[in-house]
Order: sequence, then structure tokens, then C-alpha cells
Amino acid sequence: MKIAMVGSGYVGLVSGACFADFGHDVVCIDKDSSKVERLRDGIMPIYEPGLASLVENNARAGRLSFTTDLAEGIKDAGAIFIAVGTPSRRGDGHADLSFVYAVAKEIGESLANDAVVVTKSTVPVGTGDEVERILSESPAIMQRGLKASVVSNPEFLREGAAIGDFKRPDRIVIGAEDEFGREVMREVYRPLFLNESPILFTGRRTSELIKYAANAFLATKITFINEIADLCEKVGANVQDVARGIGMDNRIGAKFLHAGPGYGGSCFPKDTLALLKTAEDFESPVRIVEAVVKANDSRKRAMGRKVVDALGGHDAARGKRVAMLGLTFKPNTDDMRDSPAIAVAQTLSDAGVEIAAYDPEGMEIAAPLMPDVAMKDNPYAAIEGADAIVIVTEWDAFRALDFNRVKQLAKAPVLVDLRNIYNPEDLRQAGFHYTGVGRD
Ligand SMILES: NC(=O)c1ccc[n+]([C@@H]2O[C@H](COP(=O)([O-])OP(=O)(O)OC[C@H]3O[C@@H](n4cnc5c(N)ncnc54)[C@H](O)[C@@H]3O)[C@@H](O)[C@H]2O)c1
Repeated sequence: MKIAMVGSGYVGLVSGACFADFGHDVVCIDKDSSKVERLRDGIMPIYEPGLASLVENNARAGRLSFTTDLAEGIKDAGAIFIAVGTPSRRGDGHADLSFVYAVAKEIGESLANDAVVVTKSTVPVGTGDEVERILSESPAIMQRGLKASVVSNPEFLREGAAIGDFKRPDRIVIGAEDEFGREVMREVYRPLFLNESPILFTGRRTSELIKYAANAFLATKITFINEIADLCEKVGANVQDVARGIGMDNRIGAKFLHAGPGYGGSCFPKDTLALLKTAEDFESPVRIVEAVVKANDSRKRAMGRKVVDALGGHDAARGKRVAMLGLTFKPNTDDMRDSPAIAVAQTLSDAGVEIAAYDPEGMEIAAPLMPDVAMKDNPYAAIEGADAIVIVTEWDAFRALDFNRVKQLAKAPVLVDLRNIYNPEDLRQAGFHYTGVGRD
């Protein structure tokens, strides 16, 4: 089947390349012409493990191409995916749907054959209804009498593990209102159907809500263990053992129970806010998510204060230097959107602390977001002359630092490990003043 993917960012590019790898004929469309040019030259606009070779192989096999021309790209496509951004709207936290609706309008103007239009972007309940309305008033339907069914198919991939997640998903959710939509989606996902990946067919509004409920639940799980970590510090308990102890219960599960600096990234912060906006609009409060958003916001700054404390408190911290290791919101991505590193750096700057940082993939994007931070070429260059080192992102490159070298380079052997990647005892024996999260 020919598939068109409108929006070639993290989700659109990975999904498009994976669909091509399944044997479909895929055109990825993006309005950003420099992105399309780079993709045509085999240069990836984002860092995602395994993506470059997947794109190259499928482009070479003639199954994957790139264009800025939507009319050309959607020609003869049986399924047209919308995978553009849905960032938080300034002020009210509602998802900004202007990109989604602009694409729907453009599809309605240029569509020349029957097709299923699929929202893969994360969109609030009712967005599919609005896309359907836009299409129903478009030349494609009003003048050309074409059939266009609107389907919701939210994406659950994680950056850093996106290809594996897309090819071996825990589940595929398809919200369709008619048989044409369901039939085309079965064809799109046939390779995964044969793989026995679970596929849940449901109504469109239900499917839209599943995505928000899933992300809000995961954000809640992270926030829960973070608050338990704070309690552990007060009562002298160990949060990692608490997480193991509760995670062995199958009803709870061990994942997403790692205490840290708070959730960030391109999804959880904006999706929790958008869910709250929907809840407000429909006068059906989701109080637990309200509490999660508040707790997570204050946590990021609290992590900055933890570093200030490790420097000896507010007065002592002024004029000192901190080495930040890791800037991206998680490892194996270059995504800096809502990364806790931004709030930690801001809190440190406000306290008069100078910052040098190193991140394996995120520095180019981070530099303009953190103008006061000196970006360095490697972890040791950041550590040189530092009064404290803070691990913000658990990149593998930081798991086995040469601590003899670190001690020689740093001004003081102070380590704040916001991801609990080190064994406190090992570090103390190596002569470090060590602070983790939720444990001694
Ligand atoms: N990033 C993730 O991990 C992830 C996971 C699941 C779901 N999602 C959701 O998927 C959606 C896309 O997220 P992303 O991270 O891929 O965003 P992104 O910003 O990386 O990519 C969006 C792309 O859409 C393009 N675009 C915007 N308007 C366009 C138009 N009119 N025509 C053609 N292209 C256009 C942009 O140029 C950009 O390249 C969001 O709704 C997000 O919430 C993201």
C-alpha cells in the first residue's frame, strides 16, 4: 500500500521508515525544506539509534522518499498519516492543534483518491471529529465526491528506543468509526498483525483518550516514586529497594519506578497539561494529574537546590563552578524539550553558580536554551575545576567515569547523582562526597 506521512519529525520519520521496512511504499512529507533536503542526502535531522541505516536501506530500495509537496506526496496513498507537532498552547496548556488542522485543510484541497486520514499526532478528544468536519467541507468531498475516513492511531514509541518500540509494540490502538477505516488500517498494520502484536480496535474518541490516559498514568508513576524518594531521605530508607519491593508485585510492575529529577521531554509535560484542559472543559476533574503536574514542576527546581546544598548552601555556592553531565531529558536522544536540565541550570545560575556541561548528543540544541552554560567537548573538560559534578541524564558514557582522573581534575570531590547510577559506597570509598536521590 502507498502510505503518506505528513510531518517527518521524531514520530513521522521513525513511523515512515518502519512502514517502508514492512514493505509499504512510503512518502514522508515535511514543510521544512532543509529537513527534506537533508533526508534526501541521507543526513538525519534527529539523533535516534538505528534510524540512519533504516532510512538509507529503504530509500535505496525505492520504498521511502521525501518531499515538501503534499499534493504530490499523498497522490494514490491509501492511508495519509498526520504526524505534526501538537505543542502546548501558550497560556492555557491546551494542545495547539493549528498544525493538525492546517494539514487536514491541505489534504482536503489536494486529495485525488479515496483515503483514510489518520491522526498519529497526540490529539485531544474530539480532534478527529474536527478533522472529519474540515474534510467534509473540502473540495475533495464537496466537489470531487471522494471518500475520506478519519481514524485515530496514537503513537506510543519512546525516543531512544523508537524503532524497536514501533516494530514490536506492546499494543496498537486504532480508533475508527467505519469499516473502510478499519479495513485500511488492518492492511497498514498487517505485518505486525502477523507478528501477533495486539491490536485494539475502538471508537475514535476512546482511542484519543487512551493516549492521554497512558501518558498521565506513566507521569503519575514517576511522580509517585519521586515523592516516595523524598520521604526515604527523611526517614532513612532506600528508594531503590522500595521500588524493587513494590515493583515485584505484578499489579504494580517494576518499570517507571526510578526516582530522579522529574519527568521532562516532548510528551509527558504537554500531554498532562492537555488532559487537564480537557478535564476542565468537560467539568470532570482529574485531581490526581493536577497534583502530579504541580509536584513535577516544583521537583525540577528542588533538584537544583539539592546541588546548591551540596556546594555548602546558598551563600557558599555563589561564584562556585558545577559540571553538569547530561542535558537531554533522557539518554539516547538529542531532545531537549522540557528537560529537567533546563530548570536545574536556571536554579544554579540564579544562585550565582557557573556551569560547564557535556552531553553526547544534546549540546547543539541545548546551547541556545541555556546561554549561560559553557558547553564542553567531553565530560572531563566539563569537570575540570568544578566544585561539584551533577549527573542529570544517565547516558552510558557517564556510568564508568575514571574517578582517579575526575578527582585530579575537579576542585572538590563532590558528586550529585540525580539518576542514582552509582553505588554510594563505591564513591565514598573513592573519597567523594556523594548525594543520590532517595537513599543515603
Ligand atoms: N516524540 C515522541 O517521543 C512522541 C511519541 C509519541 C507521540 N508523539 C506525538 O507525535 C506528534 C509529533 O511529535 P514529534 O516529536 O514527531 O514532533 P516534531 O516536532 O519532531 O515533528 C513534527 C514535524 O512536522 C512538520 N510539520 C509541521 N507542520 C507541517 C505541515 N503543515 N506540513 C508538513 N509538515 C509539517 C514539522 O516541520 C516537523 O518536522 C506530537 O503530537 C507528539 O505529541 C511524540
